[in-house]
Amino acid sequence: MKCVHDFRLRFGKRELVPIVIGGMGVDISSAELALEAARLGGIGHISDAMVPTVSDRRFNTDFVKEKAKIYKYNVANTDKSKVVFDLGRLAEATHMHVGQTIEAKHGDGLIFINCMEKLSMNAPRDTLRVRLCAALDAGIDGITLSAGLHLGSFALMEDHPRFRDAKLGIIVSSLRALQLFLRKNARLDRLPDYVVVEGPLAGGHLGFGLDWASYDLHTIVTEVARYLHAEQLNIPLIAAGGIFTGSDAVSFLDNGAAAVQVATRFTVTREAGLPDKVKQEYFRASEQDIEVNNISPTGYPMRMLKGSPAIGAGIRPNCEAYGYLLDGNGNCDYIAAYNREVALHPTAKKVSVMDKTCLCTHMRNFDCWTCGHYAYRLKDTSRLLADGSYTVLSAEHVFRDYQFSTDQQICLPT
Ligand SMILES: Cc1cc2nc3c(=O)[nH]c(=O)nc-3n(C[C@H](O)[C@H](O)[C@H](O)COP(=O)(O)O)c2cc1C
Repeated sequence: MKCVHDFRLRFGKRELVPIVIGGMGVDISSAELALEAARLGGIGHISDAMVPTVSDRRFNTDFVKEKAKIYKYNVANTDKSKVVFDLGRLAEATHMHVGQTIEAKHGDGLIFINCMEKLSMNAPRDTLRVRLCAALDAGIDGITLSAGLHLGSFALMEDHPRFRDAKLGIIVSSLRALQLFLRKNARLDRLPDYVVVEGPLAGGHLGFGLDWASYDLHTIVTEVARYLHAEQLNIPLIAAGGIFTGSDAVSFLDNGAAAVQVATRFTVTREAGLPDKVKQEYFRASEQDIEVNNISPTGYPMRMLKGSPAIGAGIRPNCEAYGYLLDGNGNCDYIAAYNREVALHPTAKKVSVMDKTCLCTHMRNFDCWTCGHYAYRLKDTSRLLADGSYTVLSAEHVFRDYQFSTDQQICLPT
């Protein structure tokens, strides 16, 4: 019986274990987690979401405090258009996060960064260019473009000396999105080095509507693989979303995928950035505890645990400190929803906002518990201890389980 280890992901002459740990925002896919994937011969992602915040935690810097101080005067103002990022400081934070991760790398694998277009940061093009180019400057092995169509992102990097040498890929959820990307970038004479096809069972933001359940990853992968073959485009296809066992992975590797991207099973590893208490929430989750909702101000549906403190919380927007989701005019759907509730309840000390959430603050505080569809099976990957908690796993254990297991088996920790 075949296992993942029987396959290899090939980038030119380089051969990798075909397991990619996907980017998980605001440091859930931490440097430690990505470094383990690389050490074991696969690919790990760090995330470029809220890097100044991540850097402050990791290196004791003061990027957030500094920005909050500059814009303190604006806190009570509903107009956030003046609140912008210092591009030099943004580059510095990215450089530290990426550079120090790459420096610590051992093994034959690679470290990529997940870069979300929807982090528009009140200056979409400028901030995206800075994040992409700073990551390349700092030596990142590859960049995965996500959460958006990224029609102009390659062009933002085209003058960078590493534009043709770093691995650059994109996440799509449909053939149409891939075709659009390829058409828009044809003039650059530079194809993506890989395409991640992410299906409806993934964690984080989804490239589907609330009708996500009517789509199926196998069908989309087949469609994209046929198209690439017909167009003689030799681009490795990486399948993602709901791949929970080594056997699930083999079913894709046997049918046109060059690798799989997985995430949910790694949320409960020691190396993942979630606090231990939250890891236990993930372990305990049942199928009924998970929902796909529309509370993300990005406009994309998002899958999360219904018990996430982010749901219904009516906190004051904190764009002066964060502000990652402000569009090019300084707007965010949460600000509008929050202001509406405050206007409706003028005497209330606290309001509740049900339709949107302040994603920056809640992701920063690990209060938005996004997860893949199969998070309810995490309890089957660990052991229940006498105190009612589950054993937190090591990333190596989960990685090797994906790599070597057969027959839908899941190896439990000893
Ligand atoms: C906790 C969590 C956070 C995620 N955050 C992001 C993100 O910031 N950007 C992104 O492109 N994908 C994100 N994803 C999606 C993963 O990178 C990955 O493609 C997908 O979840 C794989 O499916 P699986 O979780 O069923 O293995 C996230 C997934 C999880 C579970």
